[in-house]
Amino acid sequence: MKKIGIIGAMEIEVETLKSHMQIKNTITKASMTFLEGTLNGVDVIIVRSGIGKVNAGICVQILVDLFEVTHIINTGVAGSLNAAIDIGDIVLSTDTLYHDVDATGFGYPIGEVPQLGTLSFAADPQMIAVAKESCEKVNPDIKVFEGRIVSGDQFVSDPKVKETILSHFSDALCTEMEGAAISHGAWLNHVPFVIIRAISDKADDSAHMDYPAFEKAAADHSAKLVEDMIQNL
Ligand code: ADE
Repeated sequence: MKKIGIIGAMEIEVETLKSHMQIKNTITKASMTFLEGTLNGVDVIIVRSGIGKVNAGICVQILVDLFEVTHIINTGVAGSLNAAIDIGDIVLSTDTLYHDVDATGFGYPIGEVPQLGTLSFAADPQMIAVAKESCEKVNPDIKVFEGRIVSGDQFVSDPKVKETILSHFSDALCTEMEGAAISHGAWLNHVPFVIIRAISDKADDSAHMDYPAFEKAAADHSAKLVEDMIQNL
């Protein structure tokens, strides 16, 4: 039986989903509150992980160990790294990686965690396809992109930092702070996953202004598609 773990880093990214679910059980672990129940008749666990890679990784392991989830979805917002991808648009991860890992001194490319055997974490193709279908259904006016998402413990709001990230990963579509860690945790546990992010800002010097203005609408774009897609996994 499928049981889907849905992670948002911040309350604003999961509050709508939480308000739509039938809650059967509430469990707090590692200072995170896991809501167990159903959403549109599907068994789900919805949780706010908190911000950043460590919170994200811990959250995934709890979802796997305590709740035995069969799939993991991360919903939230991100800063665009591609001029074609605008505020409000949606990005589905084909793969994710850390833009802030540097073991180049040992001969690894920027982003690769030593001795792991992979630079990036590939999302589940079926979950990407289902997410795309749902997005076109529930958000027909919103553009949806598939591609690489990069993560780091950094809110990117300096054009020079954005440029540096793109100099290493020219194909990155957007940046955020948890997706690669969620993917990494799911990958270690052989649990299929996808990262879904709606764009709240351009990860440059307009980000401080745009982020608060567009965060809620962007978070809801992503959550709306998650609510639909879980029925089709
Ligand atoms: N999440 C949303 N916008 C972001 C940005 N510019 N950098 C990192 N994480 C983000």
